[in-house]
Amino acid sequence: MSRYKEFSKQNIPVINQKMYDFLEKTSQSEILFDSMVYSLDAGGKRFRPLLLLATVDFFGQTLENSHYEIAAALEMIHTYSLIHDDLPAMDDDDLRRGKPTNHKVYGEGLAILAGDALLTESFHLVAEMEVESSLKVELIRLLAKASGSTGMIAGQVEDVLGEGKKINFRELQKMHQKKTGMLIQFAVEAGVLMSTQSFEMKKWLLEYAQNVGIAFQIRDDLLDVLGDEAAIGKKVGADEAHNKNTYVSLLGIEGATKAFENHCDLATESLQKAKGLLNKSEEVTLLEIIIEELKVI
Ligand code: IPE
Ligand code: IPE
Ligand code: MG
Ligand code: MG
Ligand code: MG
Repeated sequence: MSRYKEFSKQNIPVINQKMYDFLEKTSQSEILFDSMVYSLDAGGKRFRPLLLLATVDFFGQTLENSHYEIAAALEMIHTYSLIHDDLPAMDDDDLRRGKPTNHKVYGEGLAILAGDALLTESFHLVAEMEVESSLKVELIRLLAKASGSTGMIAGQVEDVLGEGKKINFRELQKMHQKKTGMLIQFAVEAGVLMSTQSFEMKKWLLEYAQNVGIAFQIRDDLLDVLGDEAAIGKKVGADEAHNKNTYVSLLGIEGATKAFENHCDLATESLQKAKGLLNKSEEVTLLEIIIEELKVI
């Protein structure tokens, strides 16, 4: 088994348990709880929480309760973003994580509320973490920045308003950076914040994360054209059907593939700098294995 698969197998059950336990504890409505768990349980890759844990692992730290809690909170926000992204008023998708989308099963009203609850309970979970207050406040601030009007939501607004309109490459890159990049960046930033004070380390790892974030959405754009429905768990060809601005629509498959590879290379270069600071240039870390995984999954 690859090291990433092993890492996933060990950690995904713990992340899942944290999410389910918290939602169960706070839930007053069985149907709302079921609808949240339906989407959480539908087999996502858990890329963001694993990236967060891999960042902590990069510093040789033992994974603790608080790391799993912040990782769970991040995955809850990501899952909320997918439930809302699939709504008829947004991307109008029927299939997600290999199953009918949340609104297809629970109706639009509950799907909206399940998203709202996942978002809110994510911050509730962070607020109840047993960590030093200043760290907690900083985690909340960074999570809000990454998911709200300066981050994921801003990117989603540009995505929805951009349907049918041609945007330029610079605008596309900025949109991807916000709608997908910022939550991925949060994963690394939170891991760094909980592990080191080094300004230089943060700089290199954030540069790594920015490139991984853009590469991740380019890969998603490519899979929408080249992917297999059963493998990616969602309908292919949805972007073209909605006249979305994607790396493929702007640069073609070849151009998008080159851009993807370029961002993976840039991520690797930044990671090398970070490894140098820890005197582990020769070591193969999970953070670079993650880049390789992106190239195959
Ligand atoms: C899909 O995210 C939406 C994007 C932001 C590209 P993932 O590809 O991480 O979806 P899951 O979590 O594995 O279902
Ligand atoms: C979604 O981008 C980004 C989010 C913030 C959810 P997409 O709309 O391309 O994601 P998929 O392809 O539906 O997963
Ligand atoms: Mg979308
Ligand atoms: Mg979508
Ligand atoms: Mg997509």
